[in-house]
Amino acid sequence: MKILVIGSGGREHALAWKLSQSSRVKKIFIAPGNAGTADHGENVPIKADEIEKLKRFALKEGMDLTIVGPELPLSLGIVGAFEGVGLKIFGPSKEAAAIETSKVFSKEFMARHNIPAAGFRKFTDPEEAKSYAGTLEARDIPLVVKADGLAGGKGVFVCNSMDEAFLAINLMMKEKIFGEAGNCVILEEFLTGEEASFIAITDGKTVIPLATTQDHKPIYDGDKGPNTGGMGAYSPAPVVTEEVEEEIMNAIILPAVKAMGDEDRPYKGFLYAGVMIKDGKPKALEFNCRLGDPEAQALLMRLKSDLSRVISAAADGRLDEIELDWDERSSVCVVMASEGYPEGYEKGKEIRGLDGVAGTEDVMVFHAGTKREDGRIITDGGRVLGVTGLGNGIKEAIEKTYRAVEKISWEGAYYRKDIGVKALRKESP
Ligand SMILES: Nc1ncnc2c1ncn2[C@@H]1O[C@H](COP(=O)(O)OP(=O)(O)O)[C@@H](O)[C@H]1O
Ligand SMILES: [Mg+2]
Repeated sequence: MKILVIGSGGREHALAWKLSQSSRVKKIFIAPGNAGTADHGENVPIKADEIEKLKRFALKEGMDLTIVGPELPLSLGIVGAFEGVGLKIFGPSKEAAAIETSKVFSKEFMARHNIPAAGFRKFTDPEEAKSYAGTLEARDIPLVVKADGLAGGKGVFVCNSMDEAFLAINLMMKEKIFGEAGNCVILEEFLTGEEASFIAITDGKTVIPLATTQDHKPIYDGDKGPNTGGMGAYSPAPVVTEEVEEEIMNAIILPAVKAMGDEDRPYKGFLYAGVMIKDGKPKALEFNCRLGDPEAQALLMRLKSDLSRVISAAADGRLDEIELDWDERSSVCVVMASEGYPEGYEKGKEIRGLDGVAGTEDVMVFHAGTKREDGRIITDGGRVLGVTGLGNGIKEAIEKTYRAVEKISWEGAYYRKDIGVKALRKESP
């Protein structure tokens, strides 16, 4: 079969790599892809948000299946556009993607269906938001302020004082730093505990959880500094015990999939719940309508099943025929980023040492912001590589991964040194 993967990050490189292992897959296209995806298929110079062009390309090539990596094309209705012309595509419709693309929809949806989550109020008027915040007490600090739309993972401010909260409200609602997403904001109760990413695949009827995983959002070691797209991940995540997993499925994931169907927004795709776990009790922080990045890299490294078979079945509504098979070993993904990320950074630095890592057993270097130029591979984004390794237990996975990371360099390469440490502490306290 011919498969089109949409996106250009580490997640999409991992998808293309995994798909390429299947004997059923004859050709993979990645739009637009990066220097790494080109090793597993053909990069197509169409951006992920150019829905019409993507559709025409898929029709012309007679694509058997399209897999959408990032949220943007989903939010623009790529699934409806493809299905409207009879093309098979895996991901939620625009209406179903609202579970991620509108924080207001998502919070009200969770409240309507008694999905455990932080308490909140929504505001469309900045003065009302500020006067409400003004009535809060010291124990309501930190206060979480969220813009109502896709803001590239930057639309959430955890405010440590009321002044900070007022500032956040002004920036979002008056200065419109996130544009339209600031028309409505959410003021939300701060939850404490440990965060995990919980991802399931569903065809709208059957729901299968993927292996457990944990992301590392902040830029610096010890979870300090501003949030990023994700600086590393590992799987399994010991904080998600079997009991916690059961609770997340029963209280969050299954009710969400069912309720989306009941609300006439049938959900098909990967469904990702960001959860906060305290004393073994999970609460939902948010939903995402896609695989996480870098969680996907850590997960796909452990997946033994044929991904093309799994996704084809889910796209056809036959997910009940599928069982997922996971490598018992642990995986760790360390993201190497450009100096300055998540703020400004330079591009175009030559990446060295990739050949020294290529072929290392149980290690994969997934590319994100990279491109090929004059036979060299250069940096082309904030997050550049996701070095991912498998090991017997988290300790070995960490060691193997960092050994590979240390062989790769470019001017200004930055990475966290503590990916996986939280899991390690739980394994051998
Ligand atoms: N209610 C909350 N309590 C504590 N931390 C929160 C809360 N909401 C969000 N956060 C923190 O902010 C991060 C980003 O928020 P999230 O709702 O996941 O939005 P997005 O991923 O769209 O930026 C979370 O990963 C979490 O660390
Ligand atoms: Mg999030």
